[in-house]
Amino acid sequence: MSTHINAAKGDIAEVVLMPGDPLRAKYVAENFLENAVCYNEVRGMYGFTGTYKGHKISVQGSGMGIPSFMIYVTELFKEYDVKRVLRIGTCGAINKDVNIRDIILGVSANTTSNINRTRFMGYDFCPTADFKLLYTAYQKAEELGFLDHTHVGPILSTDEFYGHDDGLEARYAEYGVLGVEMEAAGLYTAAAAYKAEALAILTVSDHIVTGEATSSEEREKTFTDMMKLALETAIS
Ligand code: HPA
Repeated sequence: MSTHINAAKGDIAEVVLMPGDPLRAKYVAENFLENAVCYNEVRGMYGFTGTYKGHKISVQGSGMGIPSFMIYVTELFKEYDVKRVLRIGTCGAINKDVNIRDIILGVSANTTSNINRTRFMGYDFCPTADFKLLYTAYQKAEELGFLDHTHVGPILSTDEFYGHDDGLEARYAEYGVLGVEMEAAGLYTAAAAYKAEALAILTVSDHIVTGEATSSEEREKTFTDMMKLALETAIS
């Protein structure tokens, strides 16, 4: 086992989907995977392994924010030889060209976090998605008929959910950033460190410019669409 995951090597697939909410991991295992087995309950951060269309796949909760996400994803890469991680999550739209319920494929993740300033001796590093995985996700979105509401572009991973009343998100939006969430920069950085493939697929749960938010039924439907896209991308 690793420090925060109580699983033996081999219990976890080379391909892992990571929602922030561990109960979402359970929901995915119960509703989208076959023969799913729970391999982790430490801190309630559920992890399951099952199959999708015959491919072994795991789903592991990450918790919220870069520090929590990086603990789990680093252990997956380092201790369990995971090769591909897809974050499945929600984001807030900060750009007027993006609507609630849309899907965003995060090309790169700007961040307010200091993780990379620390790693790169005070300089910047640009956390970037794996191109092949991103290209596959785009093709799958086309096959699934989602392209009319799928955006591909940079996102922002903030350290704070509350408190950006200072126009920070508007400034990022001016530079083409599509949405704000709290984990992708950690995923892309850890994947680069461990030479693994990573992509964040996000649905827009709320709009920071218009104030619109999705209902729980809408979140369920958009989540299902995102899951189809993530699973088809994960196994290809
Ligand atoms: N900010 C940060 N993370 C988020 C948001 C947000 O507005 N919405 C969904 N995840």
